[in-house]
Amino acid sequence: MKFDNELEIEVVRDVYSPSDDTFLMLSAILPRTGQSILEMGTGSGIIAMHCAKAGCKVTAADISEKALNCARNNARLNGINIQFVQSNLFSSIEEKFDMIIFNPPYLSGQDAEILAVDDKRQLIGGKGGHEISIEFMEQAVQYLSENGRIYILTSTETSEKIIERARQLFLVNKIAEKHMFFETLAVWGLRIDLLIEH
Ligand SMILES: C[S@@+](CC[C@H](N)C(=O)[O-])C[C@H]1O[C@@H](n2cnc3c(N)ncnc32)[C@H](O)[C@@H]1O
Repeated sequence: MKFDNELEIEVVRDVYSPSDDTFLMLSAILPRTGQSILEMGTGSGIIAMHCAKAGCKVTAADISEKALNCARNNARLNGINIQFVQSNLFSSIEEKFDMIIFNPPYLSGQDAEILAVDDKRQLIGGKGGHEISIEFMEQAVQYLSENGRIYILTSTETSEKIIERARQLFLVNKIAEKHMFFETLAVWGLRIDLLIEH
């Protein structure tokens, strides 16, 4: 698969293939040269590579070893330098970043039964679909540099509790939205509100 006529992406079984949510995230973020960026749940590595091509110092994390091998291979194919880390959310992350990006798994446990994929971590965000996103935001607060931003994607199917929690932790802005057949996808920009005690 060629992305943007520039990035060459190969996806293997059990790794998330770039889809509408991926492309919405790519259209919403504006990586600037010199920024340090963490992409959580990198999958094929497409978002991390896009940021590295823009001149950012990128760390890409995923819980799945298969995803990391796939992303590493794609970075090599495109001659792009990225630091890869296997991590369950922030378990292996130590630095702070100017930007943290997450296109999380957001389907609910009920959907798990009908999914024809082996590695459901690509898609299932917990029993209610929101748990991983909420856990991510609660941990991410500690890994943002001053004036840092988080970009997270949600679906109207499971977004209510995520946005409610986001508003308790951050100043929240909707950056992009796409109406689909049965859901609306949105990308939210989160930044620390200095008036909130964490
Ligand atoms: C919806 S896919 C997004 C992949 C890619 N970033 C994209 O936009 O195409 C979600 C990714 O999050 C990863 N993931 C799921 N749970 C995770 C966790 N607890 N910690 C880190 N990564 C996780 C999955 O393995 C999967 O690669």
